[in-house]
Amino acid sequence: MSGKTFGQAVVDVPSTSDGAGMWRLARDSRTLDLNSSYSYLLWCRDFAGTSAVVKIDGEVIGFVTGYLRPNQPDTLVIWQITVADEHRGRGFATALLDSLVRRTGARHLEATVTSDNDSSIAMFRALAARWGAGLTGNQLFSADQFPDDHAAEFLFRIGPFVPVNAPS
Ligand SMILES: CC(C)(COP(=O)(O)OP(=O)(O)OC[C@H]1O[C@@H](n2cnc3c(N)ncnc32)[C@H](O)[C@@H]1OP(=O)(O)O)[C@@H](O)C(=O)NCCC(=O)NCCS
Repeated sequence: MSGKTFGQAVVDVPSTSDGAGMWRLARDSRTLDLNSSYSYLLWCRDFAGTSAVVKIDGEVIGFVTGYLRPNQPDTLVIWQITVADEHRGRGFATALLDSLVRRTGARHLEATVTSDNDSSIAMFRALAARWGAGLTGNQLFSADQFPDDHAAEFLFRIGPFVPVNAPS
């Protein structure tokens, strides 16, 4: 196993064999937008370097997907993050995000949140605090820009991450 261990859990770089499990977690989160099963496989093939999974006994129990902004490659954009219901509150999202910030060497992180997602908002505030980084928030997409009943998305921009401040 190449990844870093947290108790019985291992945080690792995803491979295409993890794509199905990631799709199931996104489906079961009942919070994330569920993308096609194909997109999770493709993400594992082409964006594994900016994504991470956490596994227990080989089963994916959490993941984070991200990419570096093409026009701002020091900025890691978080696309989706979730942890299986029964494993929440144990620091797995923290481990996923911290390992990805370290692995990518990103100076900034961006993520969007909806105003009703308290755990997500708290998770990104805690990330900024752990790294001693700033956090700014602005509306990115208003509800009327979406063709369906999607809520407005607010952009959090966190950084700069300074390696000397990295949480141990
Ligand atoms: C958000 C989510 C990924 C957090 O995963 P987790 O493994 O439970 O999170 P952690 O245990 O690592 O906690 C990370 C921080 O988030 C905060 N947090 C997590 N769950 C919380 C909750 N229910 N209420 C308030 N704060 C919460 C805590 O402040 C914690 O920081 P701390 O260590 O300083 O206390 C998880 O709740 C989830 O999968 N939610 C559904 C999908 C989702 O909403 N994803 C985010 C979309 S942007």
